[in-house]
Amino acid sequence: RKKLNIGLFGFGCVGFGLYEVLQKTPGLKANIKNICVKDRNKTREIGVENFTFDKNDIFNDPEINVIVELIDDADAAYEIVTTALKSGKAVVSANKKMIAEHFEELLELQRKHNVPLLYEAACCASMPIIRNLEEYYDNDLLESIQGIVNGSTNYILTKTFKENLSYDEALKQAQEKGFAESNPILDTGGFDAKYKLLILLAHSFGYIAKPEDLLNIGINNIGGLELKYAREKGLKIKLVAQAFKNNDGNISAFVIPKFVDTEDRLFNVDDVFNGVITKTSFADEQFFVGKGAGAHPTASAVLSDISALSYDYQYEYKKIAQQENISLSDDVNLKV
Ligand code: HSE
Repeated sequence: RKKLNIGLFGFGCVGFGLYEVLQKTPGLKANIKNICVKDRNKTREIGVENFTFDKNDIFNDPEINVIVELIDDADAAYEIVTTALKSGKAVVSANKKMIAEHFEELLELQRKHNVPLLYEAACCASMPIIRNLEEYYDNDLLESIQGIVNGSTNYILTKTFKENLSYDEALKQAQEKGFAESNPILDTGGFDAKYKLLILLAHSFGYIAKPEDLLNIGINNIGGLELKYAREKGLKIKLVAQAFKNNDGNISAFVIPKFVDTEDRLFNVDDVFNGVITKTSFADEQFFVGKGAGAHPTASAVLSDISALSYDYQYEYKKIAQQENISLSDDVNLKV
């Protein structure tokens, strides 16, 4: 296993979560060497000597071989991730908006510079859905993928439905628990779910679409009438992202709130949990479930990416292959 020196960007809910889970994972040969943050005046959980305010302290440190990007601002994240890839440092990111908006370019940068960008945490937090899509279904044709991929809205729907909390109170709780985006319309408007669906689309059907290509309807217009109807009929409302192959071979993908009945696997996926159902030619249906937001669940997916990099087998092979001018098949690229 290779020793990883991490340059971490961001020390919010997930950044601190990663710090904590790394402390509790002494077997992993990875340590945070430096942390870059923006706000000089914020009080933080660990001493000021751990931080820098200059991103070049991380980019120019030759010992740092992995950049972990856990900031909120998608545009700033794009700058960090592209700079890192161009300088040949491996990257782990949890920024679904940034990845969904720049998918094509990020893939190209990985190929060109022969460095991996991993983002398991960007989609459904703790649930290892990207790896499963990439590795398991290689020879089994996916027909559809659908599920609950946003924890905050599922939390809000659960609380308003089960406990009669008001929408605003439930959203406040989701924010206090660190589930919601700092701009919560990204959650409630179905945008965050759409970014995740775009990532799923790429890894399930190999189809790269843009955010403006997909319809998203959020939960922000659900009112008393819909809740009353659901209660009367024994249904629940879930925000569902789905993609499926049509008979003509085209793919349909969108995010919409749906009534689900007790027979539906998503019916019992409540609170901050996410649930994803795949349907394939040979395996038939499979159902993944796990916590879809929160500091430690999200950090666990980041940790898993870091761990994958520490084994490093393909990353190193590719570097050696490039130096020796040996060509490797293209499908080596996506897998770690
Ligand atoms: N705001 C996101 C959610 C965080 O609630 O699912 C995890 O991606």
